[in-house]
Amino acid sequence: MNEEQLLQKFEDRIHAGEIIEPKDWMPERYRKQLIRMMSQHAHSEVVGMLPEGNWITRAPSLRRKMALLAKVQDEAGHGLYIYSATETLGIDRAELLEQLLSGQAKYSSIFNYPTLSWADMGVIGWFVDGAAIVNQTMLAKSSYGPYSRAMVRICKEENFHKKQGYEIITILANGTPEQKKMAQDAVNRWWWPTLMMFGPPDKDSPNSAELMKWKVKLKSNDELRQRFVDLTIPQAKAVNLTIPDPDLKYNEESGHWEFGKINWDEFWQVVKGNGPMNKERLRARRKAHEDGTWVRKAAMAYAEKHKSKS
Ligand SMILES: [Fe+2]
Ligand SMILES: [Fe+2]
Repeated sequence: MNEEQLLQKFEDRIHAGEIIEPKDWMPERYRKQLIRMMSQHAHSEVVGMLPEGNWITRAPSLRRKMALLAKVQDEAGHGLYIYSATETLGIDRAELLEQLLSGQAKYSSIFNYPTLSWADMGVIGWFVDGAAIVNQTMLAKSSYGPYSRAMVRICKEENFHKKQGYEIITILANGTPEQKKMAQDAVNRWWWPTLMMFGPPDKDSPNSAELMKWKVKLKSNDELRQRFVDLTIPQAKAVNLTIPDPDLKYNEESGHWEFGKINWDEFWQVVKGNGPMNKERLRARRKAHEDGTWVRKAAMAYAEKHKSKS
């Protein structure tokens, strides 16, 4: 079969809802796009440990500390699954990490914002993990087998993350006036950056059409963003917190919440490296990588020793 026939067969398989596995023929562009998208996702899981890791030592109770610790550990696990899944596409993890540490690879813009109060732990679980669930539930049906299977397991854990976050917020929102104010302040700061997490609007998203054609993505950025808004507004109302958007209104006809304009200039600034915490996040990742050198060396030496014995 020539290249054209192979491509036709590949697209027929995708169209029929078949799952593509690592050893199957795939267009180079599909492989490249998946490597870019999956490695960005893996980096986001790992960098995403930093804003919350910042609060483990200051959790208000042992129960909260255990839940937060478990959540941050889960994110490390998510990074591990997704790096492994990306490696099935023929790229080495060390190379992916190098791309992150050199600043060449991107990760989710949301993690370049600071965590200023305990309420941020609640809002991150509720909003950021909530947004991740919307995105990842779709990816669990993605056409690439190793990616979709990783998402099934990850989504189960994300649900726990979202619940523990919403529980924190429910308690603060029903607490003292100071606690309620803290919760509202966190909602005000995280709402818009969370909407930006879904990526640029469809008209400015150059990769989307191709990713949807090959069923890597099944829904567009704007569709996913709308789903998150529709799911989250009733949850905010249930705890009497206000979403910081004066243009928010329910459209009876469409059954969707309409929302105000997103500040895309801010989004692009953060993506370009000028967000409030970009430099700090990369600095922390580089330091963790350097501090872990001896562990990697020891693991390699151990594996080598084991190999020569067997
Ligand atoms: Fe995660
Ligand atoms: Fe999570």
